[in-house]
Amino acid sequence: MTKPMYKRIMLKLSGESLSGEKGYGIDFDVVNRISSEIKELVDMGIEVGAVVGGGNIWRGRNGGEMDRTTADYMGMLATCINAMALQDSLESMGVVTRVQTAIEMREIAEPFIRRKAMRHLEKGRVVIFASGTGNPYFSTDTAAALRAAEIEADVILLAKKIDGVYDSDPNINKNAKKYDKLTFQEVLEKDLKVMDSTATSLCKDNNIPIIVFALDEVGNIKKALCGEKIGTIVGNF
Ligand code: GTP
Repeated sequence: MTKPMYKRIMLKLSGESLSGEKGYGIDFDVVNRISSEIKELVDMGIEVGAVVGGGNIWRGRNGGEMDRTTADYMGMLATCINAMALQDSLESMGVVTRVQTAIEMREIAEPFIRRKAMRHLEKGRVVIFASGTGNPYFSTDTAAALRAAEIEADVILLAKKIDGVYDSDPNINKNAKKYDKLTFQEVLEKDLKVMDSTATSLCKDNNIPIIVFALDEVGNIKKALCGEKIGTIVGNF
């Protein structure tokens, strides 16, 4: 079997990716499939950190009527629910995990402590980072970039519903072109919306490549880590 190219990874799962076809809530068949893919990585000796979004439970600000800060905190709580669902699913498969939350809720999960997270990873535990960055006005993509930098991850795997980055929306434009490779500068200049600009800049400045790929194809995570050309890779080339 091909050897993995990366030792420590950060997997970013959007909240929507956990809801499957339902588009809302948690589809445990989907979560279990993701978990079994994560288990394969752990069995290969890859150290896995994960950040989950919360959009399957809470999205937006009630049409802009809500206070932004309150809405963002509600989103952070939603990520905790998803983190616990992923933890439960992984542990049911025998994968040892720890959830660390950026907002303290001691009864539910341990707080985010970078050095503890590093030790967990070294021991082969999957660390799921909940509550985003713990601050409003920041996305969970930014949380993934921040935690990736903090845990010294080699790469961010950005799981999406579409199979990479396109020059226009492939759902609208049939002739949309998929990029195999992009620089962070191109992403920012072309406003390609891979991640938001805060997250993109953080990855650019800290030289953390991102692989954007579709989650719904089984085996994609492993393929991406073994260097097979799937999705789009963004880096400082
Ligand atoms: P090491 O022993 O250092 O390798 O790590 P460990 O995570 O096994 O040690 P620890 O004794 O800190 O944790 C044991 C269990 O308690 C783990 O499942 C942790 O996730 C959990 N835990 C640790 N701290 C907290 C906390 O503040 N709140 C909650 N709810 N759980 C915690």
